[in-house]
Amino acid sequence: MQLNHLPIIFIILLAGVVSCTDKKYSDIEKKIATQGFLLQIATNSNSASIDCSSASTSFSSLSTAGLSSKCSSCHVSGAQKSIVDTSSYASVMTKVTAGIPTASVFYTAINSGSMSAYADSTLTKAVFCWIKAGALE
Ligand code: HEC
Repeated sequence: MQLNHLPIIFIILLAGVVSCTDKKYSDIEKKIATQGFLLQIATNSNSASIDCSSASTSFSSLSTAGLSSKCSSCHVSGAQKSIVDTSSYASVMTKVTAGIPTASVFYTAINSGSMSAYADSTLTKAVFCWIKAGALE
């Protein structure tokens, strides 16, 4: 091999390395995007993915969605004063910012917070849509 061929061989090798890393990065990006998308679905963190078009928007409808069966064993009136009474609209409203679910502890607590173990997706969605629609009684 002649020594003056070395720069050309070097450039060819470098081009190969660069194109390989390019491919790998785009693969990694695709993977991250896919995982992020799945995570959003799994955690309901993307509010745009929650379809509220057929949701009932009164406080009493939350009871049907599981609020009373899943939460009232602990959240009854007369329980620890610091915790919310889930059968009372006024009490629940102390944890709600009407119109903004993600700014409402009543939603964040069951979506990803300390109460999420007790809620299911039906109740979480119902609470989200109820708050988004204005948290009416
Ligand atoms: C096993 C008893 C128990 C069950 C079941 C339960 N909770 Fe709680 N919840 C508590 C206790 C105790 C607290 C206060 C301590 C805390 O914040 O973790 C609390 C706190 C909360 C808070 C206030 C959190 C804050 O940071 O102010 C909300 C909102 C709430 N619960 C909603 C719910 C909802 C909705 C359900 C039904 C899906 C539910 N909880 C089920 C015991 C329970």
